[in-house]
Amino acid sequence: MSLIQWVHFPPLGDARGSLVALEGEKTVPFAIKRVYYIFGTQPKVARGFHAHRDLKQVAVCVTGSCRMILDDGSTREEFLLDSPTKGVLIKDLVWREMHDFSEDCVLLVLASEHYDETDYIRDYEQFLKETKS
Ligand code: TYD
Repeated sequence: MSLIQWVHFPPLGDARGSLVALEGEKTVPFAIKRVYYIFGTQPKVARGFHAHRDLKQVAVCVTGSCRMILDDGSTREEFLLDSPTKGVLIKDLVWREMHDFSEDCVLLVLASEHYDETDYIRDYEQFLKETKS
């Protein structure tokens, strides 16, 4: 199965413009405990480079675009996040990297847990070890 699990957000716009609603346990397949967004990313900066042990996230570029890499320790897949109606689900123990942020990029992330630094795996070798155990 592909590592890339798209989550489609039906646009609810009308003649006035567009609207997307994100609802926990409905459009987003978990209860949302935390929302954060990454914006104003400086040129040539790449972010992420970590995995989580127990965290599900949905990421969507509400404006602009970035290139995302997901890696489960055996497969590495790369794609563009470039639509406010298309998010990607990132499950536990998946290494993520974000590259090539457009200047206007606002990357919105919905998370299943509160922030917990001890849940991060920031070392790629350690990540590989944990995917194999
Ligand atoms: P980090 O997750 O390392 O960013 P990246 O997306 O590049 O991997 O987060 C950067 C900093 O922000 C780090 O010091 C932790 C802090 N942070 C919070 O305090 N709460 C949060 O919800 C997030 C995502 C990060």
